Amino acid sequence: MLNDIIGCLKKPPLYTKTKGEFWNDEYISKQMLKAHLNPEFNGASRKLKFIDKSVDWIKEIVPSTDYPLLFDIGCGPGIYAERFCKQGYQVTGMDFSKRSINYARNSALKKRLDIAYLYQNYLDMKLYKVFDFATMIYCDYGALSTIDRKNLMCKIYQHLKPSAKFLLDVFSVETYNSFQEMQTWEICNDGGFWREDGYIALYGHYKYSNSVTLEQTTIISNTNTATYYLWNTCFTKETLIEEAKEAGFKVCEVFGDIAGEPYHRGSPTIAILLEK
Ligand SMILES: C[S@@+](CC[C@H](N)C(=O)[O-])C[C@H]1O[C@@H](n2cnc3c(N)ncnc32)[C@H](O)[C@@H]1O
Repeated sequence: MLNDIIGCLKKPPLYTKTKGEFWNDEYISKQMLKAHLNPEFNGASRKLKFIDKSVDWIKEIVPSTDYPLLFDIGCGPGIYAERFCKQGYQVTGMDFSKRSINYARNSALKKRLDIAYLYQNYLDMKLYKVFDFATMIYCDYGALSTIDRKNLMCKIYQHLKPSAKFLLDVFSVETYNSFQEMQTWEICNDGGFWREDGYIALYGHYKYSNSVTLEQTTIISNTNTATYYLWNTCFTKETLIEEAKEAGFKVCEVFGDIAGEPYHRGSPTIAILLEK
């Protein structure tokens, strides 16, 4: 038992993947959905006020009249997708959280919004359809390993029409620089985000070279011990442009966030608008 726990707490090799379920864990996915839908929380989705501002900006720079077929990659419960649909885009959303996609489908049905939601791993996407505009919002791109990012960029490129646009955001090296390494723990007697019943959480926050951070969480409960890895690769404007160009994209413009703030060296995020 002790050796198992010590094994879980080791700083792992770069981009080690979580072994069990995270996005589709029966209990954790419920907590994730709650986090997405909390309008005042910046966890799984950004705060609602920011999302509204973001959609207002996006519809101006990539208008639905010129780019009607929109592909929202990692759409979660459809918070952006619904707003895009109301702005006149024909939206396809893709996500591999079953709970989020089910929620999104029901919500669209209730609101009579014609949105196609696909429950699929975006790393395996194969749609036999091409789009005018793709979005990948809230820094999910940086959660992937170098090889997965490369694969995804190429897949997205293949799913776009010539001259189509791709908009995404990432955390910047400014975020990496302010990330604090730490090891701490928490006792949750009555359950919490990770488990319904009591557990102990052991947290390790680590920095790696090449602007990568890891938030490692080990959960010890009466029934099991499990470790979750949340990786984040942070970018400079130059490293982000390099990856986009490698996949064949042209760079239209770089911004400080996905709501159109001007970019500067101290921006915690970078948003980039690309063209095929
Ligand atoms: C940070 S959330 C952002 C959700 C949404 N874009 C927003 O801003 O509200 C990332 C989303 O990507 C999804 N996701 C992560 N990896 C994925 C994968 N490999 N394939 C499909 N969806 C994925 C998660 O389920 C989650 O809904």
